[in-house]
Amino acid sequence: MSTHYEQLGGEAFFADLVSQFYAYVAVDPILRPMYPETDMKGAATRLQWFLEQYWGGPTTYQENRGHPRLRMRHAEFHIDSAARDAWLNAMHAVVDGMDIKPELRAELWTYLEMAANSMVNQPD
Ligand code: HEM
Repeated sequence: MSTHYEQLGGEAFFADLVSQFYAYVAVDPILRPMYPETDMKGAATRLQWFLEQYWGGPTTYQENRGHPRLRMRHAEFHIDSAARDAWLNAMHAVVDGMDIKPELRAELWTYLEMAANSMVNQPD
């Protein structure tokens, strides 16, 4: 049985997903100010490592960053429903344009929506 990581396309898939996603972040009026001014490459690398690990790929995230604790790591950012929607819209635009088997696409999307909802830390 191959992992979801392999079925999705391995490192090349996640590198593509994340680099396209950060192209949206770089021009998004809500998201851009939250991300580091000069280390967008670093932010992209951290997200790529995390997603690869989550879907069964290499554990580079854990080795470099430790336990994910994503809700805690996002606590310093003001994430309301508008920020969540901006994040998900950017992700949606990217995922829609990628070649993914339907059942994997549905699983990937369900996870991203659930994870984004769980990162909201501000009431509307
Ligand atoms: C809901 C909207 C979200 C917003 C506004 C947001 C924003 C941010 C920001 C500003 C950072 C810091 C960038 C950096 O690493 O320097 C970050 C880091 C990160 N985000 Fe998000 N994020 C959101 C949702 C998510 C979701 C759904 C995931 C996972 C599926 C995720 C995974 C990560 C990871 C892995 C990091 C790096 C953590 C670390 O090791 O330091 N984020 N996010």
